[in-house]
Amino acid sequence: MHLIHDEDANTDGLPAKSLFTSFRGRITSAQKSAIERYGRQYFITDLAKHADLASTASRQKLKIEIGFGMGVELARWAIESPDALMLGIELYRPGIGSLFSKLVNEGIENVRVIEAPAQIAIGELSNNSVDEIRILFPDPWPKKRHHKRRLIQKEFICQVERVLIEGGRLQIATDWKPYADWIFSCIEKNTGFVQIFDRTALAQGERDRPTKFESRGMNLKHRVFDFTYEKTS
Ligand SMILES: C[S@@+](CC[C@H](N)C(=O)[O-])C[C@H]1O[C@@H](n2cnc3c(N)ncnc32)[C@H](O)[C@@H]1O
Repeated sequence: MHLIHDEDANTDGLPAKSLFTSFRGRITSAQKSAIERYGRQYFITDLAKHADLASTASRQKLKIEIGFGMGVELARWAIESPDALMLGIELYRPGIGSLFSKLVNEGIENVRVIEAPAQIAIGELSNNSVDEIRILFPDPWPKKRHHKRRLIQKEFICQVERVLIEGGRLQIATDWKPYADWIFSCIEKNTGFVQIFDRTALAQGERDRPTKFESRGMNLKHRVFDFTYEKTS
């Protein structure tokens, strides 16, 4: 299945607009131009054509950040994981443009981007094909009538479990306590995961390299919940 529809591609074959793309937020000319110049290099528009992502035999490690925002953490993580293929999944075009500029400026070559809802992108991946997934400060959608829009749902966690290898890791962080409780209840029901790290107890000053939304939460004096799970079977 194509993540970006051909009819939505512009004349250069770049994904100009897709059914799944959200254009929230003002895009600067630098971000727009980074997408135009480097989209061909970094975007993955059809997972089926990327056997390297789908194959499980003699494979390169595959690490994914969902909702990478401006891409600061993904770029750092890629530098720390030179042997892995890093996949960023995001809907926010200005952030994608900023990430592309960072990748070019810092000479980072092991990152690819899917511009589609994570629910669709993860659903396209093969069983047991991903080493690690990070979801840092997903939108909490605090109002009850909006809970159905939350990324973390039981069905989504089942898909995450399906694509992770045995021993693969899932890290989720949030600064919104009711969302943390919601996340626990979605994961607890999934017996395939066991919690291996809890960074919640760390004092604010001890948390290294906070993301944009983590800093925002800390400025609001929110407690940050940060858990890592391992897929056991
Ligand atoms: C609150 S921001 C957090 C950004 C970044 N991780 C941080 O901590 O600063 C949530 C991000 O998730 C992205 N997002 C929301 N729903 C998504 C989905 N279904 N698939 C992929 N990305 C999504 C948004 O566009 C946004 O950039």
